[in-house]
Amino acid sequence: MNLIRRPRRNRQSAVIRDMVQETRLSVTDFILPIFITEGQNVRSEVVSMPGIHRYSLDLLLEEIQECVDLGVKSFDLFPNLSDAKKDKYATESYNPDGLYLQAIRTIKNRFPDVVIMTDVAMDPYSSDGHDGIVEDGKILNDATLDVLGKMALAQAQAGATIVGPSDMMDGRVGYIRQVLDEGGFHDVAIMSYAAKYASAFYGPFRDALNSAPKFGDKKTYQMNPANSREALIEAQLDYEEGADFLMVKPALAYLDIIKLLNDNFHLPIAAYNVSGEYAMIKAAAQNGWLDGERAMMESLMAIKRAGANVILTYFAKEAARLL
Ligand code: PBG
Repeated sequence: MNLIRRPRRNRQSAVIRDMVQETRLSVTDFILPIFITEGQNVRSEVVSMPGIHRYSLDLLLEEIQECVDLGVKSFDLFPNLSDAKKDKYATESYNPDGLYLQAIRTIKNRFPDVVIMTDVAMDPYSSDGHDGIVEDGKILNDATLDVLGKMALAQAQAGATIVGPSDMMDGRVGYIRQVLDEGGFHDVAIMSYAAKYASAFYGPFRDALNSAPKFGDKKTYQMNPANSREALIEAQLDYEEGADFLMVKPALAYLDIIKLLNDNFHLPIAAYNVSGEYAMIKAAAQNGWLDGERAMMESLMAIKRAGANVILTYFAKEAARLL
């Protein structure tokens, strides 16, 4: 055959394939989400997330040391609290002696150079299991901002590097920016969950934190999975309100949204490879139905190829070992 174009020429050896490779993963792309819990010497596995644990503060430091040794130096913290600590207004979220703020201070003290990202949302502290204040079955937007502002400020005071509003209330990025600036925290960055969808893939996370909504769902604040143009509105607002990063969540079922934001905004784009995406690969691998390591690396590569240069993933440590 007289073919002028033979794309296979560029795939004929490992050296050539490496030479023409367009996307490369690096451990520096990753942020590892970590679950923390009360007590001492606790390391309890999340049943629906094999390999992922909730750590008490003492063991958390050991885990972070292991990650740092592997090159993973950014962490996103989430608290697992007993029901006794939860109330309608998530007041525990800004209790300086509470588990979460104590964890930030403890990590910062021991590892001053790591990046600590925090989660700004009421759900792990809310007796209603929602991301905002509930009144008569409705999630109040503006009243919730007050709580989010207190939470973000307390996290900044404890030493957070990046605050991550994951609540999807309108106007929260601008409000948090203002509160942080008034508090003198101009250097604390905001990674907004700009396009966060009302997704079935958060199930295992809610098991990990025991944070599922007590009634209804999150569809009045999280986005409809059917929409992509709406993601541009959310991203535009967060950009104008001062976000430093724009995040898309979940990642794998929303690669088109990652690309859309990457094409339209000049901020770093992050993607959250969520708990359900982790659980699916782990479950299939445990059954011998697919090669877990290859599926993990292929997924992470796809998220980066789509345009996310920051990836929040429970695979961070495992992937770091392979890189
Ligand atoms: C809630 C929050 C959720 C996740 C991060 N922050 C779940 C939810 O919106 O119900 C999910 C993360 C994951 O599934 O890995 N503010």
